[in-house]
Amino acid sequence: MTLKIANFELASSLLQAPMAGVTDRVYRDLVREHGAGLATSEMITSDLSLLNTKKTQLRLPQMDESSPRSIQIVGTEPSVMAEAAKFYAEQGAEIIDINFGCPVKKVAGSKKLAGSALLKDEVRVKRIIESIVSAVNVPVTIKYRTGWDMKTRNAIRIAQIAENAGVAAVALHGRTREDKYKPYAEYETIRQTKKYVSIPIIANGDICNAKQAAFILDYTQADGLMVGRASFGQPWIFSELNKLLFKIQPTCEITDTYKREIALKHLRGVYKLHNLDANRLDDCTTNHSRFANKVINWYLLSMSIQTDLRPKILGARTVREQLSLFEEALFK
Ligand SMILES: Cc1cc2nc3c(=O)[nH]c(=O)nc-3n(C[C@H](O)[C@H](O)[C@H](O)COP(=O)(O)O)c2cc1C
Repeated sequence: MTLKIANFELASSLLQAPMAGVTDRVYRDLVREHGAGLATSEMITSDLSLLNTKKTQLRLPQMDESSPRSIQIVGTEPSVMAEAAKFYAEQGAEIIDINFGCPVKKVAGSKKLAGSALLKDEVRVKRIIESIVSAVNVPVTIKYRTGWDMKTRNAIRIAQIAENAGVAAVALHGRTREDKYKPYAEYETIRQTKKYVSIPIIANGDICNAKQAAFILDYTQADGLMVGRASFGQPWIFSELNKLLFKIQPTCEITDTYKREIALKHLRGVYKLHNLDANRLDDCTTNHSRFANKVINWYLLSMSIQTDLRPKILGARTVREQLSLFEEALFK
């Protein structure tokens, strides 16, 4: 039985976690290709005055992306968030996901009230969810942490608020905001939360192999699992987990050569996303090299490729040079 979010029956109950600066369109397409049942966008601002920034433009819903297109919004004011949700739904979002989990200062710091900071204000959480649910005709989901800190863990109440307000599914990361990303995620709170609501619960946090994924699924009785960092440089993790957990056969054999081809495909996709023609000698020393270098590092690490070429690849001055050095490191 696969996961259903409102009317969307997902191809798999394994979902890609949204990650800002990571799960761009190229990343989402790749994980879907490898069996992720859903790949939500990086969080996008609710401040529509920022629509014309490059960052927001890249995060807008894209009609040619596979369905269901889930867009995650972040914000503070219920009416502003509702207006943004309505706008993104009109632009093609088929699911609106609300971010109640982001721990970073820029979003949830002492002077901010967004992301995980909202968990301290349940009344506002309720108002945000209710405003968004009534503003859009598409399913609304939330992604959140177990609470602000250990003393104020309120995952169950937040799930109940969400369910009562008409949310279609919740994804719960087994850490508080205070935990940030420190090891290890805990699953007891997810297990307890599952007992109190009947909407689907998706468990998230440190899922990185089939044995552990099977344990978390069984222990929490969650309806789905969400994988974040473990997919860095290995989008095929979804094929592997799908096969071992749900007996879903991969569409192709995941050989070493195949993995290397995917690494190149990912890098080429990132160049294209940032409008860089790999056949021209573009200047590779500016902003976009951050994105490309991140991708290169993920794959070298995930495939344990130790190469003397690494500094040269990361310091390459042109797209062409970088691509050819990376290819050499992968295939020679
Ligand atoms: C670089 C990075 C960016 C992230 N950005 C988001 C985001 O935009 N929205 C969100 O809900 N969570 C975000 N997260 C949290 C992840 O979705 C996920 O909850 C967290 O990484 C735990 O899952 P994992 O242990 O499988 O990585 C981010 C995490 C990382 C590492």
